[in-house]
Amino acid sequence: MLAVLLFGPPGAGKGTQAAAVAAASGVPHIATGDMFREHLRSGSELGRLARSYMDRGELVPDDVTIGMLEARLDQPDAARGFVLDGFPRTLDQASALDALLARRGTRVSGVLDIEVHGEELVRRLSGRMVCREASHPSHVTDAPPAVPGICDIDGSELYHRDDDHEDVIRNRVAVFEQETRPVREHYRELGTPIATIDGARERAEVEADVIAAVLALEDT
Ligand code: AP5
Ligand code: MG
Repeated sequence: MLAVLLFGPPGAGKGTQAAAVAAASGVPHIATGDMFREHLRSGSELGRLARSYMDRGELVPDDVTIGMLEARLDQPDAARGFVLDGFPRTLDQASALDALLARRGTRVSGVLDIEVHGEELVRRLSGRMVCREASHPSHVTDAPPAVPGICDIDGSELYHRDDDHEDVIRNRVAVFEQETRPVREHYRELGTPIATIDGARERAEVEADVIAAVLALEDT
């Protein structure tokens, strides 16, 4: 059972590296932000609730988020493990995940902490486009798609996320520092392996380090 956490501030490159991590680990990539956007798209009650928080860059309440994630981890494809992106984002979410894994006789295998700081996060997110189908990220100037407005990976339409506007981006980064940063410390105190990866380099260099870190976890 492999339970890997992709950790890092908004814009660090978690979504960008997700496919490589999933391929290297052989377990599904599960992103709570993508799940909320899927609910938004389908017009569900949960989607409407989540939107009121996401549009302001605030966290969706823990009870809602934890319930949604636990239901997802009960799906058969997650039985052998998963790579979590954007969860846990609070200490209460971390406790809920730890308890769920303990019930399965296991624990978090490792944390991949992708580090990027300050204005680079704002620059990346201000120019980001994501696709309707699976939230695959691209960037208008740094990583433009081959066909404008179309996702290179699945051919669906690209759009600018409602929360990728400068004031909301800055609030998301502040919320990360206040509410989510302590989650890393929580796992450090538990002795969970943590790989710190410099995310402010070329995508391919970051990817090589991320894959090496996943393979190292599998060996343990
Ligand atoms: P979520 O969707 O998780 O957003 P986020 O954490 O803000 O992270 P991002 O998706 O913005 O960043 P990323 O690290 O994936 O970066 P990416 O790879 O796209 O959450 C959205 C909202 O949902 C939250 O604000 C909250 O409201 C709610 N939510 C979700 N989970 C929750 C939870 N657990 N609890 C409560 N609420 C929750 O890359 C960004 C850009 O940079 C792209 O344009 C990309 O092309 C570019 N880029 C990537 N790598 C590089 C590189 N090496 N060099 C240059 N550019 C790069
Ligand atoms: Mg993302």
